[in-house]
Amino acid sequence: MADDSVRSEASSQLDSENTENKTVSSNGEAAAENQTLSKRQRKKLLKQQKWEEERELRKHRRKEKKQQRRLERQNHHEEEGGGEAHSARKRLRREVTPSSLRLVVDCGFDDLMLVKDVCKLHKQIQRCYAENRRALHPVQFHLTSLGGQLKQSMDAKDKGWVNWKDITISTEHYSEVVAKEELVYLTSDSPNVLEELDPKKAYVIGGLVDHNHHKGITFDKAKELGIDHAQLPLSSFVKMNSRKVLAVNHVFEIILAYLEKGSWQEAFFTVLPQRKGAVAVSQDGTAAQEKDDEDSDSDSDPDTQDQTEKSA
Ligand SMILES: C[S@@+](CC[C@H](N)C(=O)[O-])C[C@H]1O[C@@H](n2cnc3c(N)ncnc32)[C@H](O)[C@@H]1O
Repeated sequence: MADDSVRSEASSQLDSENTENKTVSSNGEAAAENQTLSKRQRKKLLKQQKWEEERELRKHRRKEKKQQRRLERQNHHEEEGGGEAHSARKRLRREVTPSSLRLVVDCGFDDLMLVKDVCKLHKQIQRCYAENRRALHPVQFHLTSLGGQLKQSMDAKDKGWVNWKDITISTEHYSEVVAKEELVYLTSDSPNVLEELDPKKAYVIGGLVDHNHHKGITFDKAKELGIDHAQLPLSSFVKMNSRKVLAVNHVFEIILAYLEKGSWQEAFFTVLPQRKGAVAVSQDGTAAQEKDDEDSDSDSDPDTQDQTEKSA
């Protein structure tokens, strides 16, 4: 392609030389032209003719090279087992069975957060959405009471959210969207410990990044509204070095992992950052599985894999 453009440049240069040279007849007869052209011009002309003649051949060669490269890539992919992995992924996609369980992120705490914490919540919600989209048993995902700073952040940084699929987004309070008797507020301050998940229920997660400055706020809200509440069975399965207040996306991902694995312990260990110093609790109540403990209290963004809320 680039060569062609060089050629046509040469050709136009030739044209202009010819025009200046006025000795070339206007009817463009080749013989007369050849006689009047300088040696250099004739050489150029011949080169150009040859170039034109070989155009098809070059096109054909380019096509062949392209095809060869494609074949090489394909062979390499198959050698690496990519073919198998690809069909396994395809198989997996076909086995996806959505869960009837509803998971609600209650975004009704907008005015309690600083802009930087709203940004963190935004990232955590993006993470929930992405994890649900690739889950084996995706939940019925609801965002309620969406507005204020969070919506502004979504509009400004991720306009694509309006096209999100398999999610119900509402400006209304969750109690307007789901019948009260079907609601269970997940809150670490509840005395009730969740044993199993009921696929008929809607579990609510407080959409809040507050470094636990508003301790007990979701528990109080649940009691006020007279709905069920429960904490995740963390202490029965893992011993944590830090508080058991988790970030929104961790709670969300633990639920997804539990739906897939059917085991709280596996779900906790799949999702919780190793840096939390989580230790599995064995049947006799002793610590069974050691995990690293470098930094047990972090509230960084979801990309760092460590978002557990800081203690108050
Ligand atoms: C960062 S926490 C917010 C803490 C806030 N101070 C409160 O009182 O809920 C985000 C949400 O994750 C859920 N969550 C966090 N840890 C939990 C746990 N151990 N059990 C159940 N839900 C939890 C709660 O819904 C909580 O509102």
